[in-house]
Amino acid sequence: MEELGSVAWPPEPIRTERLVLRESETRDRAAFIELLASPEVHTYLGGPRARDELEREVSEAPARWPGSFVVELDGSMIGHVLLRRNPAYGRPAAAGKADLGYLFLPQSWGFGYAAEACAAALDWLADALPGESVVLTTQSANAGSMRLAAKLGFTEVERFQAWDAEQWLGLRPPVHTPS
Ligand SMILES: CC(C)(COP(=O)(O)OP(=O)(O)OC[C@H]1O[C@@H](n2cnc3c(N)ncnc32)[C@H](O)[C@@H]1OP(=O)(O)O)[C@@H](O)C(=O)NCCC(=O)NCCS
Repeated sequence: MEELGSVAWPPEPIRTERLVLRESETRDRAAFIELLASPEVHTYLGGPRARDELEREVSEAPARWPGSFVVELDGSMIGHVLLRRNPAYGRPAAAGKADLGYLFLPQSWGFGYAAEACAAALDWLADALPGESVVLTTQSANAGSMRLAAKLGFTEVERFQAWDAEQWLGLRPPVHTPS
């Protein structure tokens, strides 16, 4: 995966009804390690990483790049929303397109936070890079992720076999704001 391209970064923190989306800071490191070490979070993502390895390797302010949003609730990180760009090679339907990913800590699941945060990140992208369609890939067995994708306006392009599981590739067409 590559960086999004030329966008003004970081933006002012984005405030939604309940959440703040912002660039990663040093105080988020422990929550990043929780996310990456969580077996629940990685059920459909190839399994978690070892905590001792993460403690050694995760940087001071992790994942600091354009399109990488820490999602904060009441002052603490609960999730990570990632907007990146697919490389030009790989699956033709995804090649060169912006790509959405999301990981939330299990204690925050089921309250609509992921939907609220991803919608705000997609709005940011529509302003930063107008006219872009966005793709996302998730295991079709990942019911929560499939439901979230549908809720955000992604529709199926194809299913394919990779990483020992069926994958679902969805696309969200560009949002056209009336002029
Ligand atoms: C996928 C994930 C982000 C969903 O988080 P969440 O906070 O539960 O999502 P929301 O509360 O915003 O729910 C979005 C929709 O999905 C539904 N949903 C959530 N989990 C579900 C599940 N396990 N089964 C069925 N539907 C589910 C919600 O009910 C909601 O739909 P609704 O508004 O029609 O009721 C979260 O489970 C997660 O971080 N999983 C691990 C990481 C992962 O697999 N990421 C996908 C990589 S692409």
